[in-house]
Amino acid sequence: MSVTQSLKEKHVAVLAFPFGSHDLTILGLACKLARAAPNVQFSFFTIPKSNHSKFSTFKFDVPNNIRTYDVEDGVPVNHVFSGIPVERLDLFLKATPGNFQKGLDAAVMETGRKVNCLVTDMFLTFAADMAEDMKATWIPLCVSIPHNLSAHVYTDLIRRLFSHVGGDKNGGQHQTLELIPGLSPMHVKDLSDEILPRHSNETFFSYTLSKIGCVLPRSTAIVMNFCQELYPTPLFDDLKSMFPALLNVGFLTQELPPSPLPPSDSDTTGCLSWLDKQSSKSVVYISFGTAAAPPGEELKALAEAIEESDIPFIWSLNNDHKHNLPNGFPQRTNKQGKLVPWAPQAMVLGHASTGVFVTHCGANSVFESIANGVPMICRPMFGDHWMIGRVVEEIWGVGVKVEGLVFTKSGVLESLKLVLGHEQGRQMRERIKALRELVLKAVAPSGSASQDFKTLVETILNS
Ligand SMILES: *[C@@H]1O[C@H](CO)[C@@H](O)[C@H](O)[C@H]1NC(C)=O
Ligand SMILES: *[C@@H]1O[C@H](CO)[C@@H](O)[C@H](O)[C@H]1NC(C)=O
Repeated sequence: MSVTQSLKEKHVAVLAFPFGSHDLTILGLACKLARAAPNVQFSFFTIPKSNHSKFSTFKFDVPNNIRTYDVEDGVPVNHVFSGIPVERLDLFLKATPGNFQKGLDAAVMETGRKVNCLVTDMFLTFAADMAEDMKATWIPLCVSIPHNLSAHVYTDLIRRLFSHVGGDKNGGQHQTLELIPGLSPMHVKDLSDEILPRHSNETFFSYTLSKIGCVLPRSTAIVMNFCQELYPTPLFDDLKSMFPALLNVGFLTQELPPSPLPPSDSDTTGCLSWLDKQSSKSVVYISFGTAAAPPGEELKALAEAIEESDIPFIWSLNNDHKHNLPNGFPQRTNKQGKLVPWAPQAMVLGHASTGVFVTHCGANSVFESIANGVPMICRPMFGDHWMIGRVVEEIWGVGVKVEGLVFTKSGVLESLKLVLGHEQGRQMRERIKALRELVLKAVAPSGSASQDFKTLVETILNS
């Protein structure tokens, strides 16, 4: 059998966790892999909602050696949602692995190839067993910062040390995680509810996440949506000592280096043409991603601050939340700024007029800000946002958290003044440019991210 023939028989199944921007990140990885290994067959699995809404909005150029398959989302027919955000996640996880198994069986039938390798979101902990049953290798992807991976690896220890701290905001919540290599700057209060259930009982989601630490040692390699150069050394050394095949392949939702912006009139949202008319680094860009939204009164306070500041803005705000804006805000500010239901974020951040990004600190948003050298104002909301906010402000020094971690009119005005006007803001800009340079170096042909990606491709070809 010739080499190309045996490569053609390789079949990689890519399993998405279809919430937040996890699915976009792993699709980004699948596309990159499929281009690097054109003779390998890739099958991509996600729920219909994620396939239809996200992939068409982001106009992915999906290579033709990837086939997509829908899997069931676990929501019973005629189900009435309770309004608890984690409910969809719980229903989905309860349908695993059966829903994915059905999809995999179909893909194996259609392609006539057994699956050699499972590339999955790290949250899909069942994949360790599934891969073993299929005699395939398992390669999980962590979409967040490596501090998040570490918190999952050390979940048992964290729970033993800190579960007594509970919801006590004034005392133990300010303790730091000194005992865990690389996490010493983190405070107990930065840990997500899934790691340290405080206010709520354990959910199926938090239970699943608590298993990550015990299944990861069964993986063949771990892919990080990150660059080696951005780690604190103790964190890198600790993770690498446990997982020698920890592969930092760069930011997966952001083209690196960012390509030049397309002609402004090709952007149908009008954001680029509007930005063309503003002066350099003068615009505040506001967006809280696909899954997060601050409470109504905070949105109102944010809008009041923006209006009073008279700073030009682009605000990507889903129509469902518009009713929280102060009365008449869209009309009064229609010269000052641009309110859109969706903005092409990477392009807005890449435009020379954008000066600061008001963000919830989702990993991909922060990575896109770094790639484009834009400092941030942070309002963390859930999950990994608090840890990321602390890294942005205290470790990298490329942004500020809003005072008290909630939007107030005075707090927002102060943060805007700091980042856009102040000497401190100038320093943040310098530092984020330096981070951007590190990232660009990592993705250059001989850089660490390119090397790790090559190793990943080889690992897959050898599986
Ligand atoms: C996913 O969405 C794309 C684009 O809308 C569509 O062409 C494709 O058939 C969908 N895949 C499945 C499995 O439904
Ligand atoms: C890690 O990040 C995910 C979001 O990607 C979040 O749901 C989870 O709670 C985070 N874990 C920790 C320990 O913060």
